[in-house]
Amino acid sequence: MAYRNTKRIAINTGGGDAPGLNGVIRAVVLSAYNRGWEVYGIHDGYRGLLDTEEITHLTPALVRDILPLGGTLIGTTNKGNPFEMPVTNAAGEIEVRDISDRIVSNFKALNLNALICVGGDGSLAIGYQLHQKGIPVIGVPKTIDNDLSSTVVTFGFDTAVTTATEALDKLHTTAKAHGRIMVVEVMGRYAGWIALNAGISGAADVILIPEIPYDIDVVCRRLMEGKLQKKDYGIVVVAEGAIPKGGGLSVKGGAVDGRQEVLLGGLGEHVAQQIKERTGNDTRFVVLGHLQRGGSPTTFDRLVATRFGAAAVRAVEEEKFGHMVALDPPTVKYVHLEDALSRMKQVPLDSDTILSARDIGICLGDE
Ligand code: F6P
Repeated sequence: MAYRNTKRIAINTGGGDAPGLNGVIRAVVLSAYNRGWEVYGIHDGYRGLLDTEEITHLTPALVRDILPLGGTLIGTTNKGNPFEMPVTNAAGEIEVRDISDRIVSNFKALNLNALICVGGDGSLAIGYQLHQKGIPVIGVPKTIDNDLSSTVVTFGFDTAVTTATEALDKLHTTAKAHGRIMVVEVMGRYAGWIALNAGISGAADVILIPEIPYDIDVVCRRLMEGKLQKKDYGIVVVAEGAIPKGGGLSVKGGAVDGRQEVLLGGLGEHVAQQIKERTGNDTRFVVLGHLQRGGSPTTFDRLVATRFGAAAVRAVEEEKFGHMVALDPPTVKYVHLEDALSRMKQVPLDSDTILSARDIGICLGDE
């Protein structure tokens, strides 16, 4: 490729990690290097731009072997929004301050031409605010939850669903051996994509998702029907953000200590307890938790990550600042960050996946 004007571009990864982040970093570095540009990795989300010692010049040699690796070479965090940063004041009290100017001035001092922000809705929203303050930002969507509306899918989701499906396969054998009901809590926040896709692929009997408030009596009735059909074990997949009819979210911790969102959790244990009490069945629960975020990305996620990273560099070249790359098969398009962040993507209730689940007799907790 012909040598063009040299650029210095920065990349950061923010929010919860997702398998494929390293694939994006590698593709950005290689695509930039092939244009004669330099890439700088900002450590731990936006923190590396507050303390500029946390910046690494990323060379092709540094990223050569990282495509199959989970995690992120440059670290990440889901704490610390620079526009609302909790800081300790002179009186020793915690107060919330906007320290984003420091990021803008450090970015300028480093002579950077663009910032590629790889993140979910929270980190991309911060990226968009920085863009409005003059930093040329390109967004790359990242989430295992699959809850970003403007892209058909992001990297990380396929790996998370694969991990959850493999876990369900294993739980089937032990559930059957003991005649037990296994309740499996999966991630996904306010969207039921992981629960639904893994639940169907892992042959669950019941799947509870945030989009369909559930009735525990309906769930128990269905499990008892299975018993009558001489199937004395069952698999119940519970999305962490599922809610009972007339009830609320199961929350484990608040949005404290600079954490951007509340910490969901506890629903699997609660549902298992209720099933045990109501049916008398031997019931256990498993929380898959961060297993879904770890490990080597699937082939699909490596490919999407690579396409996103390369597309982000093309977006810098085309000066599409304020936009996010998004998968729109057969291509990767650019969507304005404001549009991309305007709504969450939940499972549509009229989707064929929901209809298919019902058709094959999976209980979704409502009927
Ligand atoms: O958004 C990704 C996600 O993994 C959610 O599915 C989950 O609710 C949350 O992050 C967990 O966050 P933490 O890493 O702080 O435990």
